[in-house]
Amino acid sequence: MQPFHWGIIGTGKIAKKFADDLQTIEGAKIYAIGSTTQGRADAFAQLYGAPHAFGSYEALAQCPDIDAVYIATPHVLHCENTILCLNHQKAVLCEKPFAMNTRQVSLMQAAALRNNTFLMEAMWTRFLPHIQQVIQLIKEDMIGEVRSVKADFGFLANHFPPESRLWNAALGGGSLLDIGIYPIYLALLLMGKPHKIKAFANFTNQRVDSMCNMLFHYKDGKSAILHSTLEATTATEAYIYGEKGSIHLQNRFHGKCDGFTVMLYGGESTFHPYHYPTHGYNFEAEEVMRCVKAGKKQSDLMPLSMSNDLIATLDKVRKSVGIKYAED
Ligand SMILES: NC(=O)c1ccc[n+]([C@@H]2O[C@H](COP(=O)([O-])OP(=O)(O)OC[C@H]3O[C@@H](n4cnc5c(N)ncnc54)[C@H](OP(=O)(O)O)[C@@H]3O)[C@@H](O)[C@H]2O)c1
Repeated sequence: MQPFHWGIIGTGKIAKKFADDLQTIEGAKIYAIGSTTQGRADAFAQLYGAPHAFGSYEALAQCPDIDAVYIATPHVLHCENTILCLNHQKAVLCEKPFAMNTRQVSLMQAAALRNNTFLMEAMWTRFLPHIQQVIQLIKEDMIGEVRSVKADFGFLANHFPPESRLWNAALGGGSLLDIGIYPIYLALLLMGKPHKIKAFANFTNQRVDSMCNMLFHYKDGKSAILHSTLEATTATEAYIYGEKGSIHLQNRFHGKCDGFTVMLYGGESTFHPYHYPTHGYNFEAEEVMRCVKAGKKQSDLMPLSMSNDLIATLDKVRKSVGIKYAED
């Protein structure tokens, strides 16, 4: 079988975790690394046995025989890096948030369309087996119609320096885009786009949000209570309340979750344990490989329409609390 050739742009924390997980996939080959610095590309390539290392993203985009590129740069570069690869007819899996705002996401999708090339946001949560099982149980009406979602994601980030990606406004810093996106995604996945949003945020002196509280309301009375913070380490759990029962997803609900409990009102409760031996990024990578091999231009599970809803919702939350970036 011909191996599937992955290119990786950016050599930071998540790029390494993704590369670790690619090594667990049969038929996946870490083929080329692109970095802003030749030395970092060489070191990364050596670590993972990649035959090609480039000291610029442009050079990686031009490299023939790459089946898909994974983009793992700070948020503010996602749009530019994605369009560069698409314009060289490279399929793209781009980290979340897909871009800084709706305008940028539209440009990326237009480039995918123009080049007839695959594009997907790396919303790895969608492909994790515990999330797949939760969706299946809800489809089977196990807890009845979902009426509300409560989810949080927080970690204490005060040891990261002000110039780091988490706090630096010029790199798209703040809790909402980095981690608030996951509670929002869960609400969208289960209930769709909200009708009304109320939000409150705390700001740093760089004017990025260190905390964001969100309330979503839906036309049919459904609701979501969502929270992200870099000021404290929170449970990072989720509760899904239906008309017949509820589902409690343990830490970390959006990632390497320990399991979930289904509770039927006035009845039994069942724990479904999970253990993830990898970082959990192999599932999204396998989806990209399946789609690209089948000639698909987007994923049915994480379609571009969902990325549109996600960025539109992030834009609305930002607008309501006044989180602004240079890209706006
Ligand atoms: N899915 C997940 O679970 C998950 C987890 C963490 C992060 N992420 C996402 O992945 C992206 C990267 O996060 P990360 O934590 O890996 O960041 P990171 O450790 O700071 O790495 C980012 C990489 O981007 C490249 N880069 C290019 N221009 C840069 C600049 N001006 N400043 C800093 N780095 C620059 C650098 O690699 P070279 O210079 O060598 O090219 C750097 O190593 C973010 O958008 C984040 O939201 C996703």
